[in-house]
Amino acid sequence: MSDTEAREGDVVRRGSAAAPPALESSVGDMDPEAFRRWGREVVDWVAEYMATRENLPVLSRSRPGDLRSQLPEDPPEEGEDPSLWLQDFQDMILPGVTHWNHPGFLAYFAISGSGPGVLGEMLTAALNVNGMLWRTSPAATELEEHVVGWLARLLGLPDSLFGVIQDTASSSSFAALAAARHQAFPQVRAHGLTGSAPGRVYASAEAHSSIEKAVIALGLGQAGLTRIPTDADFRMRPEALQRAMAEDVERGIQPVAVVATLGTTSTTSVDPLAELLPIARRHGAWVHVDAAYGGAAAALPAFRPHFKGWEEADSIVVNPHKWLFTPVDCSVLFTRRREVLRESLSLVPEYLRTREEDETTQLMDYGLPLGRRFRALKLWFVLRHFGVRGIRERIAHHIELGQRFAGLVDAAPDWIRVAAVPFSTVVFRWAPHDSDRDGPGLDDDNRRIMDAVNARGQVFLSHTRLGERTCLRMSVGNLETRWSHLETCWTQLVEEAGRLPRERAGIPGAAAVSPEAS
Ligand SMILES: Cc1ncc(COP(=O)(O)O)c(C=O)c1O
Repeated sequence: MSDTEAREGDVVRRGSAAAPPALESSVGDMDPEAFRRWGREVVDWVAEYMATRENLPVLSRSRPGDLRSQLPEDPPEEGEDPSLWLQDFQDMILPGVTHWNHPGFLAYFAISGSGPGVLGEMLTAALNVNGMLWRTSPAATELEEHVVGWLARLLGLPDSLFGVIQDTASSSSFAALAAARHQAFPQVRAHGLTGSAPGRVYASAEAHSSIEKAVIALGLGQAGLTRIPTDADFRMRPEALQRAMAEDVERGIQPVAVVATLGTTSTTSVDPLAELLPIARRHGAWVHVDAAYGGAAAALPAFRPHFKGWEEADSIVVNPHKWLFTPVDCSVLFTRRREVLRESLSLVPEYLRTREEDETTQLMDYGLPLGRRFRALKLWFVLRHFGVRGIRERIAHHIELGQRFAGLVDAAPDWIRVAAVPFSTVVFRWAPHDSDRDGPGLDDDNRRIMDAVNARGQVFLSHTRLGERTCLRMSVGNLETRWSHLETCWTQLVEEAGRLPRERAGIPGAAAVSPEAS
């Protein structure tokens, strides 16, 4: 009989290493019956939250330090009853939450922690699987391989792409650029960058900061990223890319990667990928597509022209946690160059070797972290719950809402839309028709309008800087957002603009703009 099979009495008699039964019964996990009871309470709470979240202020009204000042210095010496910590969640934590799952959340890129996604997260937490190797949970690996294939099909991407789930687009782009660097400088893996030619990554002036971070982390330095200027529609200019790459090559600089963004963060502009691809290829550079937000729109065949050429890219990132209704975090990195990605990041110590490693996928090989959550489960639930048709209808609805909101802006003489609206995000600015419409004096006013609207609690907008000007952004991505929320948003914007002081900058002898005037 082994120790683990031994009866309690045997173990105690054998002595020193064994714990007494009384202690054993007190060192385990929460009692299953208690879990069942509190689990039901929590699920009921979540259902109630989903039904009534709209009544909460979308942007937290918490002030710096509010929560910390309520928390005791020390953790409790004795375990506390769940009723206490769940009550504190309600009383102390909730006021400090900005409700990303609120239909009035229109800031940054709005997202949805959908019902099926939340259920998937619960089961993922319960299983607590670490899917680093096939062996450490075969279903986690195989479901991930399969469900990213479903996602590829939904988006019109080829089945032949390899896909792997990462936590965020920042990690996906880091992994993609690590592969690009490995392709450009294979010796770096063993010897580091010392002695290599300087390498360059090219991305538009509008590319996300995660690209620059990746370039820094990969040792290329900020000087290793060339920001290519954009056209009037905030799209990378192909002739500027061509010039920059040709000049660099002439100076002995090695092109590493070109990053095209299909749906940039500020304006959702779409880089002309089909024109950028041959330029990148000519210079031997890896092509990475950042479609973290915009990629979801490829679910709609009518929107595929925006993505022309992406199937030829070396890597693509799409975030189901942005516009595909999957709770944070879930980012999918697709690549045609699976082996290069693996060679760049895989390192397998003996204790992680398995007998079946050659016939199965070890997902730890395709990113920086070893441990990995079972994220595929929630994505699988989301795709199964809504189905392809349901997802298409919802994305199309969000785009339609964005377009209608753009129509309101366009029809208002005191507001200007500052960018095209390819997807569901509108970028605009208050610029009274009798003002210096492009003047810096209006930057502060736009911020004030936004802050005043956000303080009212029904909607939450964010801002960006385009050229030298502050602009406001309204992004639709939450499943419960309806036209009425956008009407509220617009009414409040116009009202708050009307409340600005008469002596607004840039308007000679200004008279206050009344809500009706807009
Ligand atoms: C175009 C784009 N790429 C990448 C990111 C980074 O996403 P993540 O938070 O998943 O790292 C963002 C974030 O908004 C984005 O807009």
